[in-house]
Amino acid sequence: MRDMTSNWSQCLGRLLRATGAGVIALSLVASGTALAGIANTRHNLSTTGPGGFVGVTAGTADICVFCHTPHAANLSVAAPLWNKQNSGATYTTFSTASSSTIDGTVLPVGSVSLACLSCHDGTQAMDNIINAPGSGGLTADGGGAAGLTTFTWDTAQTPPRVNAAGQMLPASVAMLGADLTNDHPIGIQYCGGGQTAALPGGACRDTDFRAPANATINSQLVWWIDTGTGGVGVRSKSDMILYTRAFAGVNGPSVECASCHDPHVEAGGVAGATFLRVSNAGSAVCLACHNK
Ligand code: HEC
Ligand code: HEC
Ligand code: HEC
Ligand code: HEC
Repeated sequence: MRDMTSNWSQCLGRLLRATGAGVIALSLVASGTALAGIANTRHNLSTTGPGGFVGVTAGTADICVFCHTPHAANLSVAAPLWNKQNSGATYTTFSTASSSTIDGTVLPVGSVSLACLSCHDGTQAMDNIINAPGSGGLTADGGGAAGLTTFTWDTAQTPPRVNAAGQMLPASVAMLGADLTNDHPIGIQYCGGGQTAALPGGACRDTDFRAPANATINSQLVWWIDTGTGGVGVRSKSDMILYTRAFAGVNGPSVECASCHDPHVEAGGVAGATFLRVSNAGSAVCLACHNK
């Protein structure tokens, strides 16, 4: 797309990244639908980002490239067409050390959560990119922990939330680190809701959970928590997606980062929001699964 509108909005984006949050409102008004969706979120790390948040001031105006590539994707992460290497960090997960009432099996961090943590654990640059924008941009290891050198990160926040290499710093609440014991469990079996038939072991009778829906899609048994949006009995983006993982050799439903979050946008699509699949008003996110 090289039409004038996109050139103009890319210029505006650069200006926004450079001048900060004060002009977000202008961006919303001036750009109209051109910047709807992920473009107007903290996950637009490109020069077209909404400004005031972590991102690059020079390097690329591509949004998806920080996470996806059309070719040469990393197949060791369960996120589609993934354009980054795993950070290689060793994670400590929520367990009986964090709680004596945990019932479900906790698996090592894997699945889609590994994709989120390739930036959010803070150990790897966010410009670790396997297939960089443009022709001939292939770097098999994505540049390692320090990433590529072709991007200039906006370190101007006080205190800085990203370093010059592009690694998240502890000043960002988004930097979860590798110690996940103080975070909601992930890689955790959805072991409840009274449903036994489709769950491995058939012993998940914790009544404090809502029953997951399931269906066979492309010959694979999948689970989700129906939030009543996007059609009942149909898996949609605003349902809580449960990811299929092997618990003691039997596939079962697992809660991962993207069960609660849609990394592209959340209802309303406002900059600064927390990418939730449904609004958390009245703790609707929590009550979608927990029967409390
Ligand atoms: C900050 C990282 C990030 C960025 C940037 C990003 N994605 Fe994704 N995307 C993900 C992750 C993680 C998943 C897997 C999550 C899931 O299971 O729904 C995903 C899944 C998808 C999917 C399949 C699931 C779905 O929701 O439809 C599509 C299609 C997709 N992304 C397209 C895009 C496009 C197009 C862009 C750029 C406009 C983009 N993504 C930008 C992280 C990202
Ligand atoms: C390419 C790097 C990258 C990947 C991959 C990524 N994120 Fe992010 N994420 C960021 C950055 C950068 C921010 C903004 C940090 C800041 O402003 O301090 C952010 C912000 C967020 C926020 C909002 C934080 C806030 O303060 O409001 C949430 C929630 C989030 N990410 C969840 C996820 C989830 C879930 C995934 C995987 C499905 C994911 N992210 C994948 C880079 C990434
Ligand atoms: C069980 C649901 C759930 C899971 C699983 C989950 N989150 Fe969140 N996350 C939330 C909710 C709800 C919020 C909003 C908290 C708030 O409003 O302060 C949030 C907030 C965040 C934030 C913003 C920082 C903050 O605390 O305000 C980041 C970053 C984030 N999540 C990333 C992740 C990543 C990465 C994972 C996987 C390692 C993950 N989340 C797993 C529900 C979840
Ligand atoms: C996608 C489903 C899902 C969502 C959404 C969800 N949870 Fe959970 N939560 C679980 C599962 C599964 C467990 C593991 C329970 C077990 O095995 O004992 C868990 C565990 C917990 C635990 C620890 C329980 C224990 O016995 O140690 C707490 C506390 C908790 N969740 C609170 C929340 C809060 C607060 C929210 C909303 C911000 C939330 N959850 C959203 C599925 C979910």
